[in-house]
Amino acid sequence: MSKKEEEMKKIKQFIENCKKCSLWKMRNKPVVGTGSSDAELLFIGEAPGSNEDLQGKPFVGRAGKILDELIESIGLKREDVFIANILKCRPPDNRNPLKAEINACAKYLDKQIEIIKPKIIAPLGNFACSFIFEKYGLKFDKIGNVHGKIFQVKTNNSKVKIIPLYHPAVVTYNSKKKKVLIKDFEAILKE
Ligand code: URA
Ligand code: SF4
Repeated sequence: MSKKEEEMKKIKQFIENCKKCSLWKMRNKPVVGTGSSDAELLFIGEAPGSNEDLQGKPFVGRAGKILDELIESIGLKREDVFIANILKCRPPDNRNPLKAEINACAKYLDKQIEIIKPKIIAPLGNFACSFIFEKYGLKFDKIGNVHGKIFQVKTNNSKVKIIPLYHPAVVTYNSKKKKVLIKDFEAILKE
C-alpha cells in the first residue's frame, strides 16, 4: 500500500467513527470517496443520496450514471480519478447541507485534497463550487456564470486548476444540460 493509500485509509477510519454532526445518526454507511489516491483529477459532489448511503460509494445512482458517461467521454475511467463529496453522510430526504454540517465535515475533504494533491479539482454543482471557491480565495458568483471556466490558483506548495461544473443531476430534469456538461468536460481534457 502506498503512503497516500495508507493516509487515505486513516481518514476512512475517522469518518466511519465520526459523530461531529447529527447526520451520523441516520447514516447506513458514510461515503468516504472512491478512486485513485494519486489521481490528477478530483471531482467533488455535494452529499450522498439514498443509493450512496446504502452502498457507501459516491455517485452510484442516476446522477452517477451520468457522471460515469462524462468521465468516459474524456477517455478516463472512474479508477483514474477520485470522487468525493463535501458531506460524507446523507442528509435526510436529500435536503441541502447545512452550514454547520459543512463546517463539521470539511476537514475530511481538506485532508483528502492534501493527500491526493490533484492537478485539477472539478466541483460539481453550487454547494461544491462555492465551497471550493471560498477555500481557494476565489469569489463565487453563480454556477451559470462560471461553469467550464478554468481558475488557476496557487497554494503554499502547489498549483491547482479549478474547473467548476454543473452537477450531473441537472441532466435528470433538464436534458439540454448534458451537452453543456460534455462541452465543459472537454475543458478538463485540454488541461
Ligand atoms: N450527488 C452527489 O452530490 N453526490 C453523490 O455521491 C451522489 C449524488
Ligand atoms: Fe461526521 Fe461528516 Fe458524517 Fe457529519 S457528515 S457525522 S461531520 S462524517
